[in-house]
Amino acid sequence: MTVPTTAPTTASTGLRIEDLTVTYPGRRTRGLRRPPPMTAVRGVSLDVAPDETVALVGESGSGKSTIARAIVGLVAPSSGSIEFDGASLADRRARGQRARRNIAVIFQDPRTALNPRMSAEASICEAWQAHPEAAPPGVRSDPRRRRDAVVDLLDQVGLDPDVARKRPTALSGGQCQRVSIARALALGPRLLICDEAVSALDVSVQAQVLQLLVSVREARSLSMLFITHDLGVVRQVADRVAVMRRGELVESADAQTLFAAPRHDYTRALLDAALDIDPVA
Ligand SMILES: Nc1ncnc2c1ncn2[C@@H]1O[C@H](COP(=O)(O)OP(=O)(O)O)[C@@H](O)[C@H]1O
Ligand SMILES: [Mg+2]
Repeated sequence: MTVPTTAPTTASTGLRIEDLTVTYPGRRTRGLRRPPPMTAVRGVSLDVAPDETVALVGESGSGKSTIARAIVGLVAPSSGSIEFDGASLADRRARGQRARRNIAVIFQDPRTALNPRMSAEASICEAWQAHPEAAPPGVRSDPRRRRDAVVDLLDQVGLDPDVARKRPTALSGGQCQRVSIARALALGPRLLICDEAVSALDVSVQAQVLQLLVSVREARSLSMLFITHDLGVVRQVADRVAVMRRGELVESADAQTLFAAPRHDYTRALLDAALDIDPVA
């Protein structure tokens, strides 16, 4: 038996995706033959360090959301690994569960992300029922403490206490997305994944919600995986940019370098397209 003579390499921190491939089974449509499986993400490796914001960009269908879904366990990787602070997110034991709790996701459409029958308070509290070990003290047994904790989270996302009682239909798109953010923060995550989190909002509201995400990130020293097709947004938030094309990662560089000197033709084309539609400054 060989005994290792050196310590294992230092434990990695933050999110580490290695050689991730995700293949969807063909979707069966009534009366039609099942289409062939579809590989949406192929061999992608990507890290997000503590405190770092990485933008994941690329045109529609390039596999960005599939990566987000794989990180939070909504789709299973066909191969490759996803770890947080060295613990595999696929690990069913306590270690994996702790790692998964460190990651929260905000999706594009706040109205479908929130249950239409539930008040903002109920939506936010759901996470505490599912993960009592990560809930603030007393919130599961004492309604007053629960209300206080909810009001505190609402305050952190710029919403009034009376929003707690309201359902999504009584709120604007921007308010719904703020509730989604409050819910994402309820378990004290360390990595926030934003999948087109401002894309569905009115242009006038986009900047405000983006500003909120940036200030929440700073206040809590979060890492962020910021998924977007909007390169204008990337410029404002990202330390590093990773570019997806047809399921593969084609370029990854720090934001300034990428904007100043994109190496890949496809990145250049994306940047040119973005400049065309950006309003003249
Ligand atoms: N559930 C699914 N079943 C089959 N194919 C899917 C499924 N979800 C997404 N796809 C396909 O996978 C590819 C990547 O999709 P997605 O990750 O949503 O891209 P993006 O977020 O970059 O727009 C697309 O071609 C899409 O049609
Ligand atoms: Mg998407």
